[in-house]
Amino acid sequence: MDELKQWVNEIHLELSTRADKGRVADYIPQLAKVSSDKFGIAVAPVNGPVITAGDADESFSIQSISKLFTLTLALGQIGDRLWERVDREPSGNAFNSIVQLEQEQGKPRNPFVNAGAIAVTDVILGGHRPKEAIGEILRFVRFLANDDAINIDRLVAESEQAHGDRNMALAHFMRSFGVVRHPAAEVLGVYFHQCAIAMTCRQLAQSGLFLANNGRNPATGFNVVSPRRARRINALMMTCGHYDGAGDFAFRVGLPGKSGVGGGILAIVPNKAVIAVWSPGLDASGNSLLGTAALEMLAQRTGWSVF
Ligand code: DON
Repeated sequence: MDELKQWVNEIHLELSTRADKGRVADYIPQLAKVSSDKFGIAVAPVNGPVITAGDADESFSIQSISKLFTLTLALGQIGDRLWERVDREPSGNAFNSIVQLEQEQGKPRNPFVNAGAIAVTDVILGGHRPKEAIGEILRFVRFLANDDAINIDRLVAESEQAHGDRNMALAHFMRSFGVVRHPAAEVLGVYFHQCAIAMTCRQLAQSGLFLANNGRNPATGFNVVSPRRARRINALMMTCGHYDGAGDFAFRVGLPGKSGVGGGILAIVPNKAVIAVWSPGLDASGNSLLGTAALEMLAQRTGWSVF
């Protein structure tokens, strides 16, 4: 454990001085206000206290990492019927691409590209009002992280809503195929709020523990999902969690991971730990540049790659 703490500190120190930190997302104007100097790492072992370095206790916008939580929630609601609405293949395209939707009858490639996540949110909306669905997602995230001090950044949600034409187009397009069933504005209202959930690296690492521990959160003892479902969610994170950068992430880090344009990445080390990193500067695929480098270095030192 002491060795792990030392590695986390060393990696944080070494990467903090890097000149190229990537580009902070600006298509959601509120995200562009975050300093590219922020950098946090948290490691939650399945059987020990959380280890942190840097800005690991500062909240940031989890953005697409929320898609992991809504996927888990939707699978809990309708099980394998979800796969009638969303596929399970890597897209090889950008996270907000529309190009495959027409060719594939409105069925998104996977639950992590924006189109797929919007279809998943449509499932969660079910018979609820949008406000209730947002509340349900937030309560689920608090339950997973075992921390009630998790909230939604309304300014980020409004900022994305005001610039959400691309997502609006995806939702309308899928609705024309019957893949999205609620009014597009309602589905996106929920989607923008789930993406605007703000969490710290520590909270994120804790929220992923059930995936590192065969479906059972070791901190709370709750069986969140079955071992088989945990394995499958991890497989989807490995193949689709970084969009068209998923291959490179598997090559360099070798762990199931989910990124967000807020600069966070949640990575699962099966049977060992969860790692959450945050650095707002992104690479060309929209994944955290330093965050990926930190995970690569940590996976190398620990030997935690699943390969
Ligand atoms: O829908 C969007 O574009 C954002 N709310 C989330 C995108 C995202 O985080 C992509 N991940 N790297």
